[in-house]
Amino acid sequence: MSDMNLYKIQNVSKGIKLPNEELTILKDISFEVQKGESMAIVGASGSGKTTLLHLMGGLDVPSKGRVEFKGLDIMAMDEGQRALFRNKYIGFVFQFHHLLPEFNVLENVAMPLLIRGVKKKYAFNKAKEAIELVGVGGREFQMVPTLSGGERQLVAIARALVTGPEVILADEPTGNLDYTNAMRVGNIFNQLNIELNIAVVMVTHNMELASTLKRTLKLRDGKLI
Ligand SMILES: Nc1ncnc2c1ncn2[C@@H]1O[C@H](COP(=O)(O)OP(=O)(O)OP(=O)(O)O)[C@@H](O)[C@H]1O
Ligand SMILES: [Mg+2]
Repeated sequence: MSDMNLYKIQNVSKGIKLPNEELTILKDISFEVQKGESMAIVGASGSGKTTLLHLMGGLDVPSKGRVEFKGLDIMAMDEGQRALFRNKYIGFVFQFHHLLPEFNVLENVAMPLLIRGVKKKYAFNKAKEAIELVGVGGREFQMVPTLSGGERQLVAIARALVTGPEVILADEPTGNLDYTNAMRVGNIFNQLNIELNIAVVMVTHNMELASTLKRTLKLRDGKLI
């Protein structure tokens, strides 16, 4: 494997045992992601996009096959090791921002660093930098419920970014936004990718946004097409 390789996904399948049958969600998926790459994952609702993203983020494990990140086998880790792996290497952004409403913007963005146990001052300085980078500087002390939808997603990106991840995994991050805000959020992902060399893997139904990323992976009924 070259050192440019970030992900190596090999013959991954995911099934769920239901009371009367075994449901196959992903079938024999293989692909690689290089460092600093950007990629859209597209496909109809139910095609397995979120399931695949969860496997890449170590939030779930495959039934068959291997998910390797920088040569590490995610399957071989226990729950605690997977949590450390996520905190160290991965930034997540979801369709619903999952920010904590009882905390302000600065505290939300600093949270992954505070969880790491770093000094508060350092965490807040880093958070401020990330907030400025995504273009919502000046809103540090605003409470989450008073932010607009677009601003919330930008803050969620700042939170994903604050730990200096190698990859940001985003699941329909613009799904709830109007056109202008979707493009604003999309531009930030591209900026992070190009300027900071963070790999971006984004599930999206927005074809215009998908076309701004370097590659597109298409899923149909759990298979790569
Ligand atoms: N825990 C589970 N139990 C049963 N079925 C599941 C489970 N998780 C996922 N599925 C099914 O697997 C299929 C793929 O789900 P997934 O959430 O990955 O789709 P998706 O491509 O992200 O869809 P959407 O675009 O609507 O978000 C769906 O049919 C879903 O109902
Ligand atoms: Mg989904």
